[in-house]
Amino acid sequence: MKRTIGTCYYPEHWPRDIWQEDARRMAEAGLTWVRIGEFSWSRLEPQPGQYDFDWLDQAISVLGAAGLKVVLGTPTATPPRWMLDRHPDMLALDAEGRPRKFGSRRHYCFSHEGYKAECARIVTLLAERYGNNPNVAAWQTDNEYGCHDTTVSYSAAARIAFQRWLRARYPGNGNDGDIAALNKAWGNVFWSMEYDSFDQIDLPNLTVTEPNPSHVLDFRRFSSDQVVVFNRLQVDIIRAHSDAPIAHNYMGRITDFDHFKVGDDLDIASWDSYPLGFLEDRVKADDAHKRAYARQGDPDFQAFHHDLYRAVGRGRWWVMEQQPGPVNWAPFNPAPLPGMVRLWSWEAFAHGAEAVCYFRWRQAPMAQEQMHAGLLRPDSAEAEGLAEARQVAQEIADAPEVTVGLADVALIFDYQAVWAWQIQPHGRGMDYFDLVFDTYRALRQLGLSIDIVRPDGELTGYRMILAPGLMHMPDALKQAQKDSKALWVLGPRTGARDATMRAPIPLPPALSGQGLTVSRVESLRPDMPLPLETGGAVILYREFVEGAFDVLERTKDDQPAVVVDGNLIYLCGWLDPVGMRRVLQRAADLVQIDTVDLPEGVRRRKTADECFWFNHTTEAAQVQGMDLAPLSVVRVASPAPQPET
Ligand code: GAL
Repeated sequence: MKRTIGTCYYPEHWPRDIWQEDARRMAEAGLTWVRIGEFSWSRLEPQPGQYDFDWLDQAISVLGAAGLKVVLGTPTATPPRWMLDRHPDMLALDAEGRPRKFGSRRHYCFSHEGYKAECARIVTLLAERYGNNPNVAAWQTDNEYGCHDTTVSYSAAARIAFQRWLRARYPGNGNDGDIAALNKAWGNVFWSMEYDSFDQIDLPNLTVTEPNPSHVLDFRRFSSDQVVVFNRLQVDIIRAHSDAPIAHNYMGRITDFDHFKVGDDLDIASWDSYPLGFLEDRVKADDAHKRAYARQGDPDFQAFHHDLYRAVGRGRWWVMEQQPGPVNWAPFNPAPLPGMVRLWSWEAFAHGAEAVCYFRWRQAPMAQEQMHAGLLRPDSAEAEGLAEARQVAQEIADAPEVTVGLADVALIFDYQAVWAWQIQPHGRGMDYFDLVFDTYRALRQLGLSIDIVRPDGELTGYRMILAPGLMHMPDALKQAQKDSKALWVLGPRTGARDATMRAPIPLPPALSGQGLTVSRVESLRPDMPLPLETGGAVILYREFVEGAFDVLERTKDDQPAVVVDGNLIYLCGWLDPVGMRRVLQRAADLVQIDTVDLPEGVRRRKTADECFWFNHTTEAAQVQGMDLAPLSVVRVASPAPQPET
């Protein structure tokens, strides 16, 4: 498929008489897509029931006339001020019970039925009006669910909805749930927390000390399901009127709802990629690393999300917002080095992105994002990013198509595991995302390409499957591991809790046919790493294991750190980068997956028939006899990887 590029545009921010010139310049630069509309509710419906679609009609037709395709966003992330007069209780409440007020965006609670009805109303009007418009070639629901910590709400609406959700999860006779089943599942006999009825169950905030982890996990599942329901409401309406594909724009390292479940209702997963903002804000790394990559972004963070959202989109995914220059929201906001906007774009295509859209067309001279670059400056002169976008468009036109193939290894990622680790970390710094990302980085440093897979995803064809920290391992996955010919890399904490957040007995990881038992665990201060005999260390967390297995690695205090049992390698702790890389190298060697020892900041991404090489550093590098210039992308034909059947 030919890849495409686009931009995010806000016609309502600019006088009508410049729309045509904007559209002409977009087309001239080689853009295909223009996303519009996602924050425009106050202009679509200035007063309740008083509509103005005129400007949107015109904007869509001006863009269409220039040969551009529109992604139309539903405006539900920014309800207008009058909405609050109609629904004063629609705001989310934070964990301290304070309202998340009007004056920015995302000021709604996912459980508020009145607000959901308003959303259904505006989305219906848009879908009816533009469902058959030939210029509207895709849709976006809302904007960045979960942004600004908005998935979870402790409102009265959420409390009622949570009780309803629990009744369905612990069903009894008739309409009421089985409260005894809930008490048993949560272990409420502990501290006399037993309930007599579902009406008594509150949201797990403002308790004296920590609430019951089982209670919190169900609340997090419920909160995630509320996002799924909210999104599905819009999708069903749009589908009734339009055949165009529907996307949502997810984010970097936002894990408060199950993106796989939201993605099941959509045609395309997309995400908003801000490599420099993320490096400062969301990557766990020391200052030296942050300084070295301050103008390039982390060499693995974007790739991780590309692979994650390829899975969420079941193969179809985009970058809906790509950083084109400095952003405004991270602790520091440097400009990218020349060439990085192009490199980021090609990295996304190499991972299978159908489209990369730059945020935003023109930098805004007003309001919150004045200091966020666009492709144009506020005075409409070209900003740095535009020349690179133009170059990417030209390169796409001249280059062969990118064909995605099966990756070397599968890495399982689970949103419920994120929540379980947050609820019961056992030590500061214990974060599931970081553990999975450390694993991902080590795999990439070995030159491997990775498919991220959901816990119930397809695992056929992989020779190596990794599920670090997968706190609850569903029975079907345990069975798959037992029956598998692949090498599995599990632990630490894989299978450490059952579905209700209780420790399983027999003790974890409780894999049938495998003699391994985690008998006890400890968390470690950051200044007490446990050195491994062969270099590197166990950090943050260690498990003591017993049973019959071969020991692959030991700590210097003579405890097994990595053990092998049949098709299973189990990591009895969080390995530091040195240990992780060595162990994964040994694992890859065991199943004869081809690795390469990459220089600092160089990465390889294999597609079905090519290798893309990326040099994220400002130094020239050499790999496999090839010269990689600083910040370069090199594309080389290669034989397809041969998956085992
Ligand atoms: C995204 C958001 C955009 C814009 C951008 C700034 O999170 O979707 O609307 O705010 O960040 O980087």
